[in-house]
Amino acid sequence: MTKHFINLDDLANDDLQQIIDQAITLKKQHKAGEISNALKNKTLAMIFDKSSTRTRVSFEAGMTQLGGHALFLSDRDIQLGRGEPIVDSAIVISSMVDAVMMRVSSHDDINTFAQHSSVPIINALSDESHPCQLLADMMTYQEHSGPIKGKTVAWIGDGNNMCHTYMQAAKVFGFTLNIATPKGYEPKQSFVDKYADCINLHNDAQTACQEADLIVTDVWASMGQEDEQKKRELAFKDFQVNTKLMVNAKSEAMFMHCLPAHRGEEVSANVIDGKQSLVWDAAENRLHAQKALLLFLLG
Ligand code: CP
Ligand code: NVA
Repeated sequence: MTKHFINLDDLANDDLQQIIDQAITLKKQHKAGEISNALKNKTLAMIFDKSSTRTRVSFEAGMTQLGGHALFLSDRDIQLGRGEPIVDSAIVISSMVDAVMMRVSSHDDINTFAQHSSVPIINALSDESHPCQLLADMMTYQEHSGPIKGKTVAWIGDGNNMCHTYMQAAKVFGFTLNIATPKGYEPKQSFVDKYADCINLHNDAQTACQEADLIVTDVWASMGQEDEQKKRELAFKDFQVNTKLMVNAKSEAMFMHCLPAHRGEEVSANVIDGKQSLVWDAAENRLHAQKALLLFLLG
């Protein structure tokens, strides 16, 4: 059966850990200048209907470094963007390439595409989840602080796609997730129900950060929510990750943000640019983690 990576927990826990360990090895090999042709003659189609810097560059560079090729398909250029049915697009595109990476607004569209695809589908961010980012975040934590199992992670801000994926990660990797959101911005109820054993919901950021080993946040208005920016700035004003919040966490606590970030909104400049921040490592690790993912799915 074709393996897909649409949600983090589509893969077995051992497989996810193996991908992260492999990513750490691939990173060392890349830095040592070793050349790989493991995906020679393989093509990855990358379908985007939203903007991207990290995801596009990491998948494209990753395929090149493995001897393969990546095709950038913006919805402005392909027939899918002009209304060609998802099912038809899935049948045709998957008949020509070895894997398809999708960043599209609707999670349901990724599921539909996968049902009709003959090759692996990778979710590169949907309205519901962002599993590729979690591979990089978990790899980064492991590199800096060792296993995340048994640790406490605080999610501060919007109960959005990144928050949902941290909930899945809490279950897979065995950590406790304290989630602090303003009222009305909690994660989806289906996620709260499914991951209830691993999470604690708060409406107060200070409480959620108590004794945390890792603090994570994301933008207050995600892509597609730009018209809610002003309303959200008011709702989230007490949810900025700043030094006043970080002191509640453990002294060795780290900070992560998937980027792009808005300094002065969800995070203060001295936290994101400070010593506890792992944002640049996590961004770079998208490359190594996704190379390991591609090898796992296509190898
Ligand atoms: N974190 C992340 O997915 O970044 P991009 O939107 O730049 O791809
Ligand atoms: N929550 C953000 C993440 C961007 C990588 C968004 O969906 O826009």
